[in-house]
Order: sequence, then C-alpha cells, then structure tokens
Amino acid sequence: MPEHHAKPNENTISQWRQDLADASPQTIVAFALEKFKHITISFSGAEDVALVQMAAKIKPNVSVFSLDTGRLHPETYQFIETIRNTYPIDLKISFPDPAAVSELTQQKGLFSFYQDGHKECCAIRKVAPLRIMLKHYNAWMTGQRQDQSPDTRQNVEVVQLDKAFSSPQKPLIKFNPLARWSSQQVWDYIRAEDIPYNPLHQQGFTSIGCAPCTKPVLPNQHEREGRWWWEEATQKECGLHVRTE
Ligand code: ADX
Ligand code: SF4
Repeated sequence: MPEHHAKPNENTISQWRQDLADASPQTIVAFALEKFKHITISFSGAEDVALVQMAAKIKPNVSVFSLDTGRLHPETYQFIETIRNTYPIDLKISFPDPAAVSELTQQKGLFSFYQDGHKECCAIRKVAPLRIMLKHYNAWMTGQRQDQSPDTRQNVEVVQLDKAFSSPQKPLIKFNPLARWSSQQVWDYIRAEDIPYNPLHQQGFTSIGCAPCTKPVLPNQHEREGRWWWEEATQKECGLHVRTE
C-alpha cells in the first residue's frame, strides 16, 4: 500500500486508533509499516528490541536508530552492535553536536545533572539529535509502554500525532506498538522468540538509559525508580516523549 499521502490529522489518527483498538503489537507494527514508507524505529538498547524483531520479520531492512548520548553503558554499546550484526536492518547511530557537549561540560563539568537536573544534558545529548533524525521521516515507532510509569506514561496511545516534533508543514506520527503490553508480556515474547537482550537486565536493571543516570532496582521496586533517582517521579521524562523545553 502506498504511503499515506494526505497529511494525517487528528481525525485520521482517531480512526486508526479505532482500527487498532484490539490489535496486538505485531499487528500495529505491520499497520505502521504498511501506512508509512518513511518510518523508523527508535531503539534504546533495552527490551524495546522486541519491536526490532517484530518489524524485521515484516521488513528486513527496516530503518532503526539509536541515540548514542556518549554516556551509555559499555554493555549497551555492545548490545547495539549485537543487534546490528543480528538483523539486516538499516541501523543509524546518531551522536550529539560535539560543540554543544563541549560547552556544557566546559561550563558545568561531566555530572551537572546531579546538581541541576537532567533536562539540560538530555536536551543536548538526546532531544536535539532526535529532532535532526526525525526530519527524515513521516512517522516513528517507540517502545513506550503504559506500565513503565504511572506518573508519566499511563495514557500512552498506540498511535498519536507527535506534538513535540511535528511542525505545521510536516505532521509526524508516532506509533507505540507496545503501549498496552506489560513488561511481563514483552519478556515472554523475548524469550519465546529467543531474541538477544542487553546483559544489564541480568544485573537488576529493568529500565536502561545513560550509565550515570540509571541504576538497578530492588525486587518489586518500580522500574523507573532506577532512572534519575535523585529527581521526582513526575520529572522522569527526558524530552523524547513529552515536550520539556
Ligand atoms: S526515556 O525517555 O526515559 O529515555 P525510555 O528509556 O523509557 O525513554 O525508552 C522509551 C522508548 O524511547 C524506547 O523504547 C525507545 O523507543 C526510545 N528511546 C529511549 N532512549 C533512546 C535512545 N538512546 N535511542 C533511541 N531511542 C530511544
Ligand atoms: Fe545526560 Fe543523564 Fe540525560 Fe544521558 S540521561 S543525556 S547522561 S542527563
């Protein structure tokens, strides 16, 4: 099916939401790939590998990108490389603007986020590179799930107009195919399909972000308690998924 040429608007999206009301993640991924030729998957190097598997089964050379913030764990770099070698996907790895990183670290050092919050560093290392990456696409898929955070993600829809990264000239559609799956379902899928996973998951990391801003959680502690643990739960978004500027 050709790419959705008419600019999708809120009406189109609410129709798609109805169409996908009972759809599985696999069906949502297939739907997204069918509607959009210029679509990409954002892959963090964590359990969102499930999405890569689902998409690569349908479109082996699907476009995938990872934002290398310069601060990921060695295990995550290794895992991203494993995925690059496992699937014939078109994997892009973006890097932040070196001048912006230098200016930040020159002025505030390498760990300013512990003093004045993660937003400034995330804006440079994640959000600006994401904005550049998304210019090439009409739609993207993420591994966000409702169960990741009762504070910030409980209303995540399977498809939405991306208000943070759309412009009036170019609406950007965001699919969250895993939105209604629990962590348990994602892990059942990873095991059933024998998909490689980040070894940090074996060390108590449930959610994985940058190394200085992620720590393992205790049994039954919520997964995002290990992310930016020195900040309030309601602040635990970096700007990839909600406008923070
Ligand atoms: S974050 O906003 O707190 O950092 P989280 O780690 O929960 O995000 O991941 C949710 C989804 O955001 C991932 O499944 C992925 O689609 C996207 N994402 C997060 N970090 C990255 C990254 N470094 N590179 C690419 N995509 C990412
Ligand atoms: Fe910087 Fe931490 Fe945000 Fe990574 S998660 S970009 S290190 S503040």
